Amino acid sequence: MLVNNVPYRTIFLKPSNAKAVHIIDQRALPFKFAIEELINVDDTAKAIREMHIRGAGAIGAAAGFGMYLAALEAPQNIGFGQFLRLAGKKLIATRPTAVNLSWAVERQLDAIAKGTNFDEKISIALETAQAIADEDVEQCRKIGEHGLKLIEEISKKKDGQPVNIMTHCNAGWLAFVDIGTATAPLYLARQKGIKAHVFVSETRPRNQGASLTAWELENEKVPYSLIVDNAAGHLLQRGMVDMIIVGCDRCSRNGDVANKIGTYLKAVAAKENNIPFYAAVPSSSIDFRISDGLKEIHIEQRDEDEVKSVTGKDEKGNMQKVILAPEKSRALNFGFDVTPARLITGLITEKGVCKADEENLMKLFPERKG
Ligand code: MRU
Repeated sequence: MLVNNVPYRTIFLKPSNAKAVHIIDQRALPFKFAIEELINVDDTAKAIREMHIRGAGAIGAAAGFGMYLAALEAPQNIGFGQFLRLAGKKLIATRPTAVNLSWAVERQLDAIAKGTNFDEKISIALETAQAIADEDVEQCRKIGEHGLKLIEEISKKKDGQPVNIMTHCNAGWLAFVDIGTATAPLYLARQKGIKAHVFVSETRPRNQGASLTAWELENEKVPYSLIVDNAAGHLLQRGMVDMIIVGCDRCSRNGDVANKIGTYLKAVAAKENNIPFYAAVPSSSIDFRISDGLKEIHIEQRDEDEVKSVTGKDEKGNMQKVILAPEKSRALNFGFDVTPARLITGLITEKGVCKADEENLMKLFPERKG
């Protein structure tokens, strides 16, 4: 996407230096647009764990590039494979919920193993990392096209009045390599002159809605209103929302969707008020090995400190962290929740929109049967 008229991806190589990977450091947004350089697998693992780069697609791509950096670092002969397997484990351990991480690492290990010598293995690792990133962009583009049709239908029913769409967290281009999933249909709608307005929930504790989705929509000139997380039920009950589109960190083959904590509550309130609830799900986020999201998806738990404090810019323009709770209070910080398939109107995948169940997912992805 364009930032100050310059096209950016969230993760990229500079033509002048193929031995370093560059990422947008999302911790600095919305106040500063900063690029960070990663030169080895430890840098990459730290950047994922501490959320310099975040969002399922983006961390999948980071794992792909992290494995490439690991291949560059690995001893050339004895120990190459062992170094790579350990690097893969390190990357997968950074964040457990989004399946894209392990998917990208496994893809790299399989691909690199096919190289017959060190140089060939390095070029395969680079090609695979680029392919993972390019496919992510392509999947997002297609999700945008399928999601756009849903917005168009509602727009027609409303005689061109703005379609009010609620989203949660950030499933925009910052959460992927480019374009994004939940926001992709909005960007296309804007290009086609279809009026839409977005309710962006702030997404405590890390506020990805307030700091990232709001920044993206502002940049793309899509009208939006920021809301506190607790306002969602009220807006849905009052008929102020036409549809919800959220992202996905891991979807099981029966259509359960793990996404940022708070997604489930929005889905429950949407069902109660007959508002369509869609999850935008690229196939890289579908875990075809599991068939019960509630039982089988590992939910990341993060530091209590994220709940007990908030970080932002003070009136003088300096970044400040402020404490919200008594010093000794304990906090629980689950990063994600699972929305059961029965609450989901449809999954927007790169192959089309389907009902959230195994039968319909398998119709779109017959190669994953069995
Ligand atoms: O913890 P994050 O910021 O990496 O979580 C990302 C999300 O859960 C978002 O909701 C997003 O929708 C998933 S789509 C990449």
